[in-house]
Amino acid sequence: MILDARSQRQRALAEAAMRVDRCRLCEIGSSRRNSVYGEGDPKASLMIVGEGPGQTEDAQGRPFIGRAGQLLEKMLGAIALRREDVYICNTVKCRPTEPGARGLRNRAPLPAEMAHCRPFLDEQIAIIRPSVLLALGVPAAKAFLGKDFLIGKQRGIWFAGPQGIPLMVTFHPAYLLRQTGGNFEAVTALVGDDLQAVRSKLEASGFGQVGASQALS
Ligand code: URA
Repeated sequence: MILDARSQRQRALAEAAMRVDRCRLCEIGSSRRNSVYGEGDPKASLMIVGEGPGQTEDAQGRPFIGRAGQLLEKMLGAIALRREDVYICNTVKCRPTEPGARGLRNRAPLPAEMAHCRPFLDEQIAIIRPSVLLALGVPAAKAFLGKDFLIGKQRGIWFAGPQGIPLMVTFHPAYLLRQTGGNFEAVTALVGDDLQAVRSKLEASGFGQVGASQALS
């Protein structure tokens, strides 16, 4: 049977997701409920990389489906993209947790966890071959650009990302959700600028589906 490019990529992603699910290199490979490999269009022009699965994602095995995910979808809507038009994943595929007052709570992934998961992420990028990578938040930025990355100064700038793919970093939607009062509007405006730059980059790389934009707020 001859598979088209989309089906070939879909199959490669499904096979990699099974390897991720069997991985126990980190302790969080045993504490998580589900691995969260990633989802979206296997031929996506835009690949979005977040930090790591949270509680909702861990429960369902899908990335960005909680409150941050809802905001991410709204952010994408502002550049006329739907969730299913892009590919969404994380630097680590298992939920990083620590003991909290009410059971396990989310934490940022450790450098060792990101290093263990990196081959999976690189393989994912190589399968999808996006035109543009968008990293959300500091841990994802540091995974690609090193520990000295400063989000306040370096978000919204194009970098040469892995495999030579143009990479931009913007604020994580969960960070936006933590802003109060005027800060929320200010940070939302910065993210809006970054997303418009992503849209322009996609159009410059031949992406044809980008149409009218919606308001982000
Ligand atoms: N935050 C992330 O970084 N990734 C998810 O999948 C959900 C929330």
